[in-house]
Amino acid sequence: MSLDNGKLYEFNIGNFMSKNIAILCSGGDVSGMNPALKQFVEYSLQKNLTPYFVYDGFEGLIDNNIKEASYCDVAGIITRGGTKIGSARSKRFMKKEFRLVAKENLDKLNINMLLVLGGDGSFAGMDIFYKEHGIRFCGIPSTIDNDINGTDYCLGVDTALNIIKTSIDAIRDTASSFKRAFVIETMGRDCGYLALVSHLTSGSEMCLIPEIDFDLKDYEDKFKTQIQNGRRYFIAVVAEGIKQDSSEIAQWFEDKIGMESRVSVLGHIQRGGNPTIYDRLMAYKFVSHAIDKLLKGSKESVICYDRFGFNFKSISEVTSTTKVLDEKLLSYIQ
Ligand code: F6P
Repeated sequence: MSLDNGKLYEFNIGNFMSKNIAILCSGGDVSGMNPALKQFVEYSLQKNLTPYFVYDGFEGLIDNNIKEASYCDVAGIITRGGTKIGSARSKRFMKKEFRLVAKENLDKLNINMLLVLGGDGSFAGMDIFYKEHGIRFCGIPSTIDNDINGTDYCLGVDTALNIIKTSIDAIRDTASSFKRAFVIETMGRDCGYLALVSHLTSGSEMCLIPEIDFDLKDYEDKFKTQIQNGRRYFIAVVAEGIKQDSSEIAQWFEDKIGMESRVSVLGHIQRGGNPTIYDRLMAYKFVSHAIDKLLKGSKESVICYDRFGFNFKSISEVTSTTKVLDEKLLSYIQ
C-alpha cells in the first residue's frame, strides 16, 4: 500500500488493483451520456472508488486532460443531452506512440479501470490498448445508430427515436395541408434501425433502408391508386445509408407519382435533446453493471442488453460481425 496526496491506493502486485476508475466518451455523442456520467460518479463513490473524467475522448487520454470528479461535477446534468466531458473521434489514438502516452498519463494517476461510452470502433481501439498496456475496461454501447452486434440496445437510441417521432408528427401536419410527399432522412450510418422503427411507429407510407434492396417502380401503381382513392400526402422515411440520395427519391415522387415533394434531413437534432426516462434508466443500469464487472476483476468486455437482460461479451464478438436487424421487425416492411 502507498499514500499519494492523502489518498490510499491499493497495490496488488502482478494484478495491480488501484481504486481509481475513469470514464470517457468516444465517437458521436448521445442523449444518455450525461445521466451515465452522473451514475458513474455516484456509484464509484458508493463503492469507495475515486472517479475521474477523461475529457474529449481518447484525445483527453493523450493530452492528459483527466480530472478527478465529484458530486458537484454531475449536479443538474441528468436532464441534458450531449456529454459534459466532451467526445471526439481520435485519429491519434490509432497510433501506437500516442497510446503509450495515454498509458503513461493513466499511470500517473494510478488509473487502471476505464469505462468507455462509444461504438464498436471505440471498443476495438480500446481492445488494442488493453492488449498493449493492460488497462482494464468495459465498453458501454452508446450510439443512436443501434448498430453494435451483440446488443439489442445502445444508449441514446430511445431519445433519438422520440426526436424523430416528434419531427415526423410535425411534418405530417404540413404534408397533409399541402398535398405533398415528404422524404424524411434519418441518421444511422449503414444501419437502418432508426428509419425502420420510425417508419413503423409513425405510420409512414414508405421505408427505405440499406438492409433491404428496393426498386421504386414497385411502389408506383400502389401509390397512384391510393391518390385516386383520396390519399393527400405521403411520408417516406429513408435511412442515410441507402444508395440513392433523398433528393432522388423526392424527384421520383414528382416525376412518377405526380406529387409535389420536399426533403427533410433530420440531421444532428437526432443526437441531442433531453434524455428520455428509458435512456436515463439504461444509463444507470449500464454503468452500475459495468463497474461491478470491473470490480470483480474482469479485464475487457462490452456490456450488452438483450432479451436475457444484461450480459457481457468479448470485443471480438461485438466488433467482428455487422449487426443484423431483427427479422420480425424487417418482415413488417417486406
Ligand atoms: O454514429 C452516429 C452518427 O450520428 C451517425 O448516425 C452519423 O452518420 C454520424 O454520426 C455523423 O457524424 P458527425 O457528427 O461526425 O457528422
